[in-house]
Amino acid sequence: MGIKQKGRTLTLALGIGAAAVIAALLIWLFSVPGTRGLYRWGYAAPFLAFIGLGLFAPALALGLVALQRSRPASGGAFKRLRLFSRSVSIVALLAGLGAGAFILSNAYGPRAPAELRPTLPDPGKDLTHPAGRLLRVALSSDPHVDRDISNHAARAAILSRAQAEYEGGELDAFFILGDFVEQGFLASGWERALGELRELAPSLPFYMLLGNHDAMLGGSRRWLAAMAPTNYARHSPYMWRLDAGRIHFLALDLPWGPEDLSHREKAWLETQLSGIAAEDITIVLSHAFFYSSGYVDEGTGKAWYDHEDNLRLIAPLLAGRADIVISGHNHYMEWIESGGTAWAVIGAMGGKPDPEPSYRSPGSQWFARERYGRLVLEELPEGLRCAFESHEGERLFERVIAYR
Ligand SMILES: [Fe+2]
Ligand SMILES: [Fe+2]
Repeated sequence: MGIKQKGRTLTLALGIGAAAVIAALLIWLFSVPGTRGLYRWGYAAPFLAFIGLGLFAPALALGLVALQRSRPASGGAFKRLRLFSRSVSIVALLAGLGAGAFILSNAYGPRAPAELRPTLPDPGKDLTHPAGRLLRVALSSDPHVDRDISNHAARAAILSRAQAEYEGGELDAFFILGDFVEQGFLASGWERALGELRELAPSLPFYMLLGNHDAMLGGSRRWLAAMAPTNYARHSPYMWRLDAGRIHFLALDLPWGPEDLSHREKAWLETQLSGIAAEDITIVLSHAFFYSSGYVDEGTGKAWYDHEDNLRLIAPLLAGRADIVISGHNHYMEWIESGGTAWAVIGAMGGKPDPEPSYRSPGSQWFARERYGRLVLEELPEGLRCAFESHEGERLFERVIAYR
């Protein structure tokens, strides 16, 4: 092989190598939960930069090699072009390898062992409660435990109160609707979350949902190890049904919105909804909200209120079937009534309060910001009492959903 031929091979190898590394990283990222949502919700710039680099580097190298073949007598200008092409390829290669090594070494680092998991019952088994009283459960969402500015005292109070009630036979389970941690691919947040649950709520049964922050950059692997329900393989780990007598819970896979929802998951939801007796109470759980008051995000320009995709694609399936849809994602407490269904937001487990809303959802009946707490669901002979409580136990707002 001549010197010129070797030079051409090196130029091409660098360009194609850079494209291959970037393509592999992007394929992996878009195959794990949450990345499509991240892209859709205003964080496309780094992905587009990588796509641009991954296309530009090999195109430049190929163009240069074709030019050299057609005009073998190359001069100084050609040498400068070749240096530029190789430099672009090396930058693209290092960027792809660096980002890939950082993300993958974190996402695939050692996970918390199974014995550190909190009590995570199998949703396929009915939720039972002591004889002589009816069901009573609590829900909250968005603790963001490893973020400095989260309200750690409020979160601790919510967990300790629930554990004490469970020990006293007054509470059957606690549901956390996602965003337990800030950056799901980092081990540190999960270690803190699991340590806190062991300390403050060692025996309280938890049912968990995956939030967009939990899923961040391959975080679903850590979530599966730490928070997924026992025996989830029978359903999706992110979509499950839990029955408690005449009350039924359906958890949906909507960390950002419906980006990751598969046809199979959607068909499963339709089957479950049509299998529940109309006179029973159906409670739908989701990380991303449907109706919510909110604001336009300054950085991304996206509307964080009345979720367009969820309302257009998923809400019609729930119409007339779900009695109440409960979510987090927006860090508020809110009670909305619309289309014969109640829509509750309970993103109040300690995550930084979201901005003062510039938009009020038309069906909003009650709204609270900068309050922390939980939503308590209490079965009554006539229906279900839904009560918002502060982390100190103060009753803030309540409504009763009657059996039909
Ligand atoms: Fe959140
Ligand atoms: Fe969220």
